[in-house]
Amino acid sequence: MTDQPVSPATPKPDAPPPLDSEVAQLAAAEREIAVDIGDKLVEIQNLTVRFGGLTALDDVTFDIKRGEILGLIGPNGAGKTTCFNAMTGVYRPSSGGVLLEGEPIGRSKQHKITRRGIARTFQNVRLFGEMTALENVVVGLDARHKVGVWGSLFRTPRLYREEKNAIDRGMALLEFVGIADKAAVQASALPYGYQRRLEIARALATDPKLLCLDEPAAGFNPAEKEELMELIRTIRADGYTVLLIEHDMRLVMGVTDRIVVLEFGKKIADGLPKDIRNDPTVIAAYLGEED
Ligand SMILES: Nc1ncnc2c1ncn2[C@@H]1O[C@H](COP(=O)(O)OP(=O)(O)OP(=O)(O)O)[C@@H](O)[C@H]1O
Ligand SMILES: [Mg+2]
Repeated sequence: MTDQPVSPATPKPDAPPPLDSEVAQLAAAEREIAVDIGDKLVEIQNLTVRFGGLTALDDVTFDIKRGEILGLIGPNGAGKTTCFNAMTGVYRPSSGGVLLEGEPIGRSKQHKITRRGIARTFQNVRLFGEMTALENVVVGLDARHKVGVWGSLFRTPRLYREEKNAIDRGMALLEFVGIADKAAVQASALPYGYQRRLEIARALATDPKLLCLDEPAAGFNPAEKEELMELIRTIRADGYTVLLIEHDMRLVMGVTDRIVVLEFGKKIADGLPKDIRNDPTVIAAYLGEED
């Protein structure tokens, strides 16, 4: 992330307890809630990504429908993270492309894609370790600030209003992911599970249409995985569309509406969890895999 955050006020350790039942509305203040699975939100079209001689993604086509939780699975090295990277502007496709609401993402820079509505978390947690949990989320909200350089330099009233708003919204998001009690704790000092949740809050702060989660349960124990499933369901119920990369089959089968399977960069299946579970091609792809 290259954008420099507007420095938020650090919350006092004795700050009042987080917000209550209006949290969801506050977190979703400017977003239309649309839970029904509907039209195509994202279209991945013949997406191919090559690294030298290696074809990491090979002519992959699938849609993500508005309001769904779509699983993206496949053995190690199948191309799942590469797909996220191509969707979020980290890698340029070698051919093919990605449409968001019918419009090509083209060669947009990462922050432009974030603003257009695709947010992600990373396979390895990436947070601003020196900042508090709340500050990390406010960084995500920063894209929404309307105050320009002059406003930031001279601390105009509008900045304070926006900052207040950002802190309220940041707290609401921390509450939403269940870590509001750690708002004032440095991100690097948070337990691992909290860091993962914080990453999700930060991604949600950009108010995405699509939230991409790259192995959010990696390193979680069964109880934490259960809580994460609940959180993902809540996120969807709140109107977000979710693309989930995850190796834990129980979690994937338990939370997704549909699953796309990659193997060696190619799509080998696309269907309902119950069908994917029994698909001989998918089973064969996973034979010999630890999971
Ligand atoms: N920047 C890169 N340069 C060269 N090769 C890469 C790069 N990124 C990914 N690859 C290769 O592309 C292939 C797909 O990698 P990718 O990380 O997308 O797999 P994945 O499905 O996310 O795997 P995992 O489940 O292990 O995270 C692998 O062979 C990987 O080594
Ligand atoms: Mg990966």
